[in-house]
Amino acid sequence: MEDNDRISRLTAEQDLMKDPPEHEPERQYYFIKRCREIVKKKSEELGRPLTACSVCFGCQMNARDSEKLTGILESVGYQKAETEEADFVIYNTCTVRENANNKVYGRLGMLHNYKKKNPAMKIALCGCMMQEPGVVQKLKESYRFVDLIFGTHNIYCFAELLCRTFESDSMTVDVWEETDQIVEKLPVERNYTFKSGVNIMYGCNNFCSYCIVPYVRGRERSREAADILEEIRGLAADGVVEVMLLGQNVNSYGKNLETPVTFAQLLREAEQIEGIRRIRFMTSHPKDLSDELIAVMRDSKKICRHLHLPLQSGSSRILKRMNRRYDKEHYLSLVEKLRAAVPDIAVTTDIIVGFPGETEEDFEETMDVVRRARFDSAFTFLYSKRTGTPAAAMEDQIPEAVAKERFDRLLKEVQQIASEKADLLTGQTLPVLAEEINRQDAHLLTGRLSNNSVVHFPGTAEMIGTIRNVKLVTCKGFYYLGELS
Ligand code: SAH
Ligand code: SF4
Ligand code: F3S
Repeated sequence: MEDNDRISRLTAEQDLMKDPPEHEPERQYYFIKRCREIVKKKSEELGRPLTACSVCFGCQMNARDSEKLTGILESVGYQKAETEEADFVIYNTCTVRENANNKVYGRLGMLHNYKKKNPAMKIALCGCMMQEPGVVQKLKESYRFVDLIFGTHNIYCFAELLCRTFESDSMTVDVWEETDQIVEKLPVERNYTFKSGVNIMYGCNNFCSYCIVPYVRGRERSREAADILEEIRGLAADGVVEVMLLGQNVNSYGKNLETPVTFAQLLREAEQIEGIRRIRFMTSHPKDLSDELIAVMRDSKKICRHLHLPLQSGSSRILKRMNRRYDKEHYLSLVEKLRAAVPDIAVTTDIIVGFPGETEEDFEETMDVVRRARFDSAFTFLYSKRTGTPAAAMEDQIPEAVAKERFDRLLKEVQQIASEKADLLTGQTLPVLAEEINRQDAHLLTGRLSNNSVVHFPGTAEMIGTIRNVKLVTCKGFYYLGELS
């Protein structure tokens, strides 16, 4: 757990005979203490420890939020369960595409069966999907066995909500429409000891016409640079060597702070922190990618040789309808500038196929950008209609079969180029951060190059978290087999 001593002290200071404090984060520490007593009592009644399982869907930001949820569960006394057959299960949900929602409904059926076997089990749902009124309505009507529902804006109140759930027999629902609060310094349980996400901003103001994120994550709010840097220093002191700075549009970081700071300036400061060896960030929006940022990346020893720069479409006409605020030429010129400044950079992207009104010509424009930008990898998505977004109301929705056929063509092209590019590094020896034991073969470790490519190589558990020179012996398309040099 990050910062264990401070957490123990703040919890110990709370007086449960008094009313809960008004201020955050003290208020949550009060509820942590109260939950702790409840969990302890229940576990004594059952004669065994209580277990909790936290499952995360969605993006890196959700993953970081889930570490905060796990931090609370652990501080109130739950033991971590690897499966969902546990006393407490929480799903941190995503709603960026319709299939993300369907996945959650599907798994809830399974949880219901577990709960029939263990009636004391509590089920909680939070995250982006819960910010949609239609979803909460459906859960209230057809999924009465869910105990707690909350959203993205009040995630910092998890301890308080947990307490309310323990003290109530009915479904607790608390979803806020907005918040301007950023509550710092609550418990966090990291998934990895040596790397960590760091939120630098929350929300999004871009309103790309297909995207639900601004509606479920609220307006853009940047954290103070001093708080971010203090957090990174703390992580470094705790053994973290790689940080990933997180935001929906990191390039617009700091614009609304009282004393504005640019993202490039923040990176320069982060780079000074001793102990941090690698810095990554997600996600960059092409409309805000500055020359200053390219220069900082060029000059940096720590910023990884990777930029994820979502294209979405190669057609300027579609980009306009998507409200992306750049065109095909601008995007291509950014890639060119980046590659000129940082020759070994990997440029990756996200592409949506089948956006309303996309013609065969528009799609060919996307294919053209793919061929010219030569992405090192690309996530391709079928357009998914999200209720409430402007694109959902557009008339010329694309038939699924047409979109699917384009999707297959795109994927083939993207994979072909990615494997050709990856093969260029075969034979080189490069630093790899060893991240975990390989899931298929326990003699191998899995790690990443600075450019984010995956490498498997023979190694042992004590190497995890260290950076080693590895020779890339064979390229397998989107990963390498290597050996320590
Ligand atoms: N903030 C990031 C993206 C976050 S969502 C950015 O602007 O780049 C991650 C990806 O999901 C997006 O880049 C987009 O490609 C995809 N996506 C978002 N909404 C979608 C939708 N309605 N249908 C299909 N894909 C979508
Ligand atoms: Fe969605 Fe666009 Fe914001 Fe990314 S920048 S989260 S795609 S609205
Ligand atoms: Fe999904 Fe929410 Fe992230 S909708 S992509 S989890 S911000």
